[in-house]
Amino acid sequence: MTERDVRVYEVGPRDGLQNESTPIPTDAKLRYIGLLADAGLREIEATSFVSPRAVPQLADADELMARLDRRPGVRYPVLVPNLRGLERATAAGADAVCVFTAATESFTRANIGMSIAESIDAFRPVMTEARERGWWTRGYVSTAFGCPYEGEVAASAVVAVARQLIELGVDEISVGDTIGVAGPADVRRVVGALVAEGFNRDRLAMHFHDTRATALANVSAALEQGIRCFDASTGGAGGCPYAPGAAGNLATEDLVYLLEREGMNHGVDLDALLAAARDVSNTLGRPLSTKVGQAGGWRVPVP
Ligand code: HMG
Ligand code: MG
Repeated sequence: MTERDVRVYEVGPRDGLQNESTPIPTDAKLRYIGLLADAGLREIEATSFVSPRAVPQLADADELMARLDRRPGVRYPVLVPNLRGLERATAAGADAVCVFTAATESFTRANIGMSIAESIDAFRPVMTEARERGWWTRGYVSTAFGCPYEGEVAASAVVAVARQLIELGVDEISVGDTIGVAGPADVRRVVGALVAEGFNRDRLAMHFHDTRATALANVSAALEQGIRCFDASTGGAGGCPYAPGAAGNLATEDLVYLLEREGMNHGVDLDALLAAARDVSNTLGRPLSTKVGQAGGWRVPVP
């Protein structure tokens, strides 16, 4: 990796679709994932092995992972909240897992029915097994900037949870603006605190939701702070069902366009990505709300 290399971590099939109430056929999800790989994405978060009652939209996780056409060089992480989820993920052929907790107690309770400390205890055996198998692992810290129940969040709370996840052995921490309230100054504050506390920038990813149109500004701030992995959802759908007010992930097409103009290496073909965005938009039955999804890439007119 050079200074100009950025990882675009696609969360559309998981975070993008998890909050949709209309059932989406597994075939449509598999086609979407295939188009994302066609566009050059190398990390595609495919689904979640959570309680089907908690997230009915992803109840087909077992079938989806078992039928997935795995492309060489592409990682397909899945969310697992506990050992039950790890067992299901294993049976379905997964080899990269994400555990997920938050910086605030109320959100963690609403989302996974545990306190933060209980979530870390639940993840310990999951992480031990995953690491023994040599799997790639990620830990999410949600509500890192604001909580739908507790309001503003101190950077020290983010640092405390992130440290516990690193101690469990996760390869990477994804710092989440779950309800899309952060601005660039918040990004500088939280990333600055993590770096000051000794976290390696290469093990940090940022997960922005574009609820209030600040996601790209936040990406710019994080890029300036040396962060080189960004989560995004092609088509811009998404949000956590247990975070009232969560809406729209940062759209991958908007992110890729910004990275392009910043001269960063991202490995994604924008035209092919827009084909994936149109596909998911057709599946969801609504037009793309993303800027680059509507405008397309910029073609310099030939005189
Ligand atoms: P619970 O009800 O508190 O606890 O759920 P439980 O252990 O008593 O389980 C209840 C039922 O779920 C039982 O079934 C279990 O067997 C079953 P019953 O006996 O009642 O029929 N169960 C499972 N079934 C399938 N797979 C499993 C599993 N575990 C238990 N793995 C639990 C606790 C954690 C399971 C539940 O709260 C849950 O699944 N929550 C997931 C919520 C979720 O997926 N939220 C969205 C992802 S987080 C997010 O979007 C934020 C992020 O994008 C970053 C950001 O934006 O900040 C990552
Ligand atoms: Mg999210």
